[in-house]
Amino acid sequence: MKECLRLITERRSITFFDPTREILDDLIREILEVSATAPSGYNLQPWEVIVVKDKDKKRILKEICYNQQKVEDASANIVLIANTRAGMEHVDKVLESWEELGYIKAEAKESLRTQIIKGWQDPQRAFRKAVRDTALFGMTVMIVARAYGLETHPMEGYDEERLKKFLNIEDHKVVPMIIAIGYKDPSKTLLPRAYRFKFEEFGKIT
Ligand SMILES: Cc1cc2nc3c(=O)[nH]c(=O)nc-3n(C[C@H](O)[C@H](O)[C@H](O)COP(=O)(O)O)c2cc1C
Repeated sequence: MKECLRLITERRSITFFDPTREILDDLIREILEVSATAPSGYNLQPWEVIVVKDKDKKRILKEICYNQQKVEDASANIVLIANTRAGMEHVDKVLESWEELGYIKAEAKESLRTQIIKGWQDPQRAFRKAVRDTALFGMTVMIVARAYGLETHPMEGYDEERLKKFLNIEDHKVVPMIIAIGYKDPSKTLLPRAYRFKFEEFGKIT
């Protein structure tokens, strides 16, 4: 319990990564698979990732991220992609698994399929669903990474059009954020965590 809270409360957006540290592909894969236990509407898991790890590619990505140095210094950068067609593309796999596990009966599948797809037909709703679930996945990645001794930095500062061209991301997919991941440079100190609104300022209980 305490450990879990520590992983959350001591997370910071790391500005200084140790540029000499690498990260193994297997470790990235494990962090991302653990993070994929994140929840999503109807379990449709609309997220995809492209992990940019190659040194030359990181240099190009840094330029796309308006020269944020952390992009080059981090061991890797996880480009989070929200697929606005996930409703249509993932529904069959989800329903098959539900039937297999006894969540639903075979005869309920078709009407449920129609209902799920309907929710993804309006482009604005599809966008919201895809981005919302992908952001939950992203937050999970940042916490799970810390459990594996790594640190992260979420970023929205990038030229999305250029990024999509660079990584061949299709038009119906959006990039809600990039997460730099790596090891903090031990010789550098971050400024203290900036002000957080108190519950009285952002919440109420009715
Ligand atoms: C979606 C998202 C996008 C962000 N984009 C950037 C960014 O492009 N560059 C940057 O330096 N920080 C970026 N940040 C980091 C925030 O500035 C940081 O989370 C905030 O100041 C709180 O600091 P902390 O994460 O260390 O607690 C981003 C954070 C989030 C959640």
